[in-house]
Amino acid sequence: MNSKGLNLVFTGFMGTGKSSIGKLAASKLGFEFVDIDKEIEKHMNMVISDIFENFGEQHFRKIESKIVKEFSSRTGMVISTGGGVVLNTENINNLREKGIVILLKAKPEVIYRNVSKDKNRPLLNCENPMDRIVELLEARKQYYDNNDFEIDVSELSIEEIAEKAVDIFKKNSCI
Ligand code: S3P
Repeated sequence: MNSKGLNLVFTGFMGTGKSSIGKLAASKLGFEFVDIDKEIEKHMNMVISDIFENFGEQHFRKIESKIVKEFSSRTGMVISTGGGVVLNTENINNLREKGIVILLKAKPEVIYRNVSKDKNRPLLNCENPMDRIVELLEARKQYYDNNDFEIDVSELSIEEIAEKAVDIFKKNSCI
């Protein structure tokens, strides 16, 4: 299959760099880039934290699944997902149907450093975000394991990670 018949999909916990890496990988491949969280915000005309506050997580997840379904039916795209997309098996099945899924992994300390200044992450808006990160990583481990490849981003630059991801994608999509 030609690589344009597939998508490159990034999954991973909050703060692992899915959006910046996805954007860079898309420009290297000459693919369109889509950020599922940004699409949800556009759809609702509201930032993520306001969606959670006004409608609750369940509603957010419903919209997330709808948007994932829409984009995973297309091809030739780099898709960056929100950290909780893997929790619904239907989402990950849809994304894997026409996509190579790369999980971006990072140590809790790296995640903490990356998310600590961002107020648009309602799930980490709590008394002790570091404990919450460790707890959620543990609870979600089995869901994140549902991938084709994994990259540990803890010690790498955005450029190195994007390059690695593009290499994996090219090797596995026959171009
Ligand atoms: C979430 C991750 C967020 C966003 C929402 C829920 C999660 O995306 O979708 O706040 O459940 O892990 P990022 O991973 O892009 O921060």
